[in-house]
Amino acid sequence: MSHTNILAIESSCDETSAAIVQDGKVLSNVIATQKVHEQYGGVVPEMASRAHMQNIVPVVDVALQNAGVGKTDIQAVAFTQAPGLIGSLLVGACFAKSYAQALNVPLIAVHHMQAHVLAHFIDDPKPEFPFLCLTVSGGHTQIVLCRSHLDMEVIGETMDDAAGEAFDKTAKMLGLPYPGGPLIDKYAAQGNPKRFVFPVSDMDGYAFTFSGIKTAVLYFLQKEKKLDAAFVENNLADICASVQHTIIKMLMKKLKQAADDLGIRHIGIAGGVSANSGLRKALTEAGEQYGWQVYIPKFEYCTDNAAMIGITAHYKYLAGQFTDLSISPTPRAAWT
Ligand code: KG4
Ligand code: ZN
Repeated sequence: MSHTNILAIESSCDETSAAIVQDGKVLSNVIATQKVHEQYGGVVPEMASRAHMQNIVPVVDVALQNAGVGKTDIQAVAFTQAPGLIGSLLVGACFAKSYAQALNVPLIAVHHMQAHVLAHFIDDPKPEFPFLCLTVSGGHTQIVLCRSHLDMEVIGETMDDAAGEAFDKTAKMLGLPYPGGPLIDKYAAQGNPKRFVFPVSDMDGYAFTFSGIKTAVLYFLQKEKKLDAAFVENNLADICASVQHTIIKMLMKKLKQAADDLGIRHIGIAGGVSANSGLRKALTEAGEQYGWQVYIPKFEYCTDNAAMIGITAHYKYLAGQFTDLSISPTPRAAWT
């Protein structure tokens, strides 16, 4: 029986990634993380596009090599079409279009946030439908109701900052490099989450807001640093643990509310912030407490990667959802 090999490209932000997915199975997933942004405290868009241009050819070559698949064995090329930084998206889109044209194979456009959710379908056990997914990344915070692989609806999202931004901006205020989320996670592991209390913001329905905690942390640090110049270094673990605890509380509250209202018991987390150990623990505990079947992706499939683009493309391929070469990437795009 012949196989269907999909080459998938992800370039929406600061990781250049390529994967080969064969009949829904990930054969390779290569990720080049751009270190250049660390010193700037955030992703510099123009530098990100330049780094994608440097990385994309070697990353695709290694993905093919690791999978043991030749160029002419590719049956479709998939790429992240939206959302993301336009310059970064353009590099992946142009590469994918040229590759598809040269090989004369179909092109598949993938929505990055849909792909984060479908990362749950890379390994077993796979979620059953209906499935509720809290998708938390550097740019988004959403509760997604999934009726099937390609039928998803965002039922709640943030009104301002994303959860990842709340982590990254807190880290910046603490003098930690970008991306700060993983560092907050690391320090939080040694800290007391109840030591400092920050407000838990609430919104109607399943909407989130993270601008309040950002301001609360800013004023709190300004006040404490006036009293003690070494406040941050002497209390780093407790500050990180307390902020992390508050962010997780806000996320879990809405997830529980949505699960109860909709009567859904298959619940997952996805996106970069789903790598957070506190959030992973909170979901596991909620599963035990409420009788949920919980799904937590492997670390390599939480942050940006092409395997999730490839698995999404696999379902689109089966459904015959191809696109033509006239398609352009878009920085913001509603779900279709
Ligand atoms: O999904 P992702 O890789 O890129 C976007 O699509 O935005 O998410 C990146 C975000 C960053 O804000 C980063 O700080 C956060 O995920 N992140 C974490 C952790 N690992 C990554 N936040 C908290 N704890 C972590 N362990
Ligand atoms: Zn992402």
